[in-house]
Amino acid sequence: MSTTEEILGRADANDFEAILSLTNTAVDEVEHVVKNGADTIYTWDYDKGRRPQLETLYEKAKKGQWNGETDLPWDVDVDPEKEARAMFEMAGGMDQMIDLQGTGCENWGEKEWIDFNIESQNWSLSQFMHGEQGALICTAKIVETVPWIDAKYYASTQVMDEARHVEVFAKYLNTKLTGHYPINVHLEMLLDDIVEDSRWDMTYLGMQIMVEGLALAAFSFMHQQSQEPLLKQLLRYVMSDEARHVAFGVLSLKEVYQDLTQAEIRERQEFAFEAAVRMRDRFLSQEVWERMGVDVKKIIPRIWENPDRLEFQRLLFTKIVPNCKKLGLLDAGDAWLRRRFEEIGVIQYENWVDTSEEVDAFAISDELEAAAAAAGV
Ligand SMILES: [Fe+2]
Ligand SMILES: [Fe+2]
Repeated sequence: MSTTEEILGRADANDFEAILSLTNTAVDEVEHVVKNGADTIYTWDYDKGRRPQLETLYEKAKKGQWNGETDLPWDVDVDPEKEARAMFEMAGGMDQMIDLQGTGCENWGEKEWIDFNIESQNWSLSQFMHGEQGALICTAKIVETVPWIDAKYYASTQVMDEARHVEVFAKYLNTKLTGHYPINVHLEMLLDDIVEDSRWDMTYLGMQIMVEGLALAAFSFMHQQSQEPLLKQLLRYVMSDEARHVAFGVLSLKEVYQDLTQAEIRERQEFAFEAAVRMRDRFLSQEVWERMGVDVKKIIPRIWENPDRLEFQRLLFTKIVPNCKKLGLLDAGDAWLRRRFEEIGVIQYENWVDTSEEVDAFAISDELEAAAAAAGV
């Protein structure tokens, strides 16, 4: 059993000084090297369908493939300033919600808040792109490390999916927006921990359940908010894949976790908690404030307690909590993870539908087939 200090590197999960003292210092880095600590496993058991739910998912994945270059309307003209202005006209600046006196942005007017919205969009899409590359690397790792042939087959389709996701987010950033951001340090720490871990199920837990569970919720939120037709379709297509990915994690780990000891389950609970806090910290957008010339140590504590931010942060956990429950992680042992999720205020989602049950609701295979028929393919 580990202490919060051992899990997070700080005794208090909400210690702003500690959270904000971390920053990406390698902003000019082009390559980032991480040691993959896991064994590569061959299986000589080629009996396809031994795990029927994974086999079904593999067949769905084959039908759900789309082409990032030709299936999205890249000819849509995107005007980031117009989008940012529309958002400002709808919600105003943060001075509408928070007392900003003494933070350095108390005198911002329309122009600064619109610039802030433009930067926030660049930042959000950049972090999605980096997270997608994390998923690409992790899924390739799962192909190597998982001992079941049905899982290797399925994971190989996910490698293709994630390559497409990196590709479309990078293209959107390069051709439609106004700049990139380097990877957020909290996201990078989590991705490094997932890749370094030697236990193959930890890749699933960190990536499929936590990172992708949160991404699915975040994409849904952005999809609802955005009025921009290209981004809306891009997100809907990406979400159709992500729902399968999270379901893959749930279906695989459910089997594995049945046979773990109490001590092993506790390690998984602690890793899930670490991932939850790292992702929450990554959403503080500290790099946007820095780029706008605002002292993050002044502004972030003000924003922290804002009801809108809390609501958004909670919404991000709508997939993670029911999926952890389905895996038995919430209540195993002394219900350690339930108590942590209570502390960070997200336990209310425990009875929402888990992703293995809703994967078809996100599917676009009928739409792809209709488009192919119309094109005479
Ligand atoms: Fe993805
Ligand atoms: Fe994914």
